[in-house]
Amino acid sequence: MKHGAGQSGETPRLPGLTEAPGPGGAVPKGPVPFLKWVGGKRQLLPELLRRIGRLATFGAYHEPFVGGGALFFELWSRGRLSGPVRLSDNNPNLIAAYEGVKYAVEQVIELLREHARRHDKEHYYATRAARPDSLAARAARIIYLNRTCFNGLFRENSRGEFNVPMGRYVNPRICDEANLRAAAEALRDVRIDTAPFDSVVEAAAPGDLVYFDPPYHPVSATANFTAYQRDGFGEDDQRALAGVFRALDANGVHVLLSNSCTEFVRGLYADFVVENVSASRCVNSRADRRGAVWEVLVGNF
Ligand SMILES: C[S@@+](CC[C@H](N)C(=O)[O-])C[C@H]1O[C@@H](n2cnc3c(N)ncnc32)[C@H](O)[C@@H]1O
Repeated sequence: MKHGAGQSGETPRLPGLTEAPGPGGAVPKGPVPFLKWVGGKRQLLPELLRRIGRLATFGAYHEPFVGGGALFFELWSRGRLSGPVRLSDNNPNLIAAYEGVKYAVEQVIELLREHARRHDKEHYYATRAARPDSLAARAARIIYLNRTCFNGLFRENSRGEFNVPMGRYVNPRICDEANLRAAAEALRDVRIDTAPFDSVVEAAAPGDLVYFDPPYHPVSATANFTAYQRDGFGEDDQRALAGVFRALDANGVHVLLSNSCTEFVRGLYADFVVENVSASRCVNSRADRRGAVWEVLVGNF
């Protein structure tokens, strides 16, 4: 999938997956992520679903690095979430977007229609500089910027300010009403927290399922995908995450994690089942560095 100039900005359906029969022959027709997120897991969904398919049932579902929430929406669409759900991330703007959609979707839609009507360079930069107070206006601002900014990146500077220039989309889809309403429905009973990933240790109980999709460990010094938020996610964070993984495992929680395939990551999870899976990444600004890359899936089931 290409990003950038000339792209329409439509929310793509995942070929061969959303149309494919789910368990029991049901065709999933649920929402897809309403934000384009760096490291979004859509390409990896078939592998993640295959792995989760090994679990006949699980209790609550936890996603502590929720980002665009690709796996959450897919599991919800497939009817695999029968217990409570907790989504969290340490990015307060991202969580505000989820809360706005959950609690005030009609206002968000109304505000996005207004953004779409007024969309031009001047409106983009005025919205980027604005700091609205209400949940609906915060959510609409983030969704609007995310769908019109360069490469759909969500990048903040050291002061937590969104600083991405406007993209050159021909006809960006700023307000996908049906998808937003479906997302609000999926989020209706979901707990959504701004929280660091280790808060899952308190929240998860034996039999629950936790999916970790942390910022990637860089495959090389230049492939730094981790700089899209205020605080980078360094090797100490990756080690702390591996400790949380082990603590959950010891407590009887089902744990699944994806990350880049590096010696460092494989070493952290040497005691667990580590599979290499192929995914393509589209966030590199240099076209010759995009393409299929190997990732790892680590699980204790
Ligand atoms: C690879 S992205 C997740 C992508 C997501 N799975 C998707 O499908 O779009 C990683 C996420 O981790 C969040 N994050 C970074 N450091 C964190 C931390 N210490 N605690 C919790 N979340 C963190 C970022 O805000 C980002 O949304």
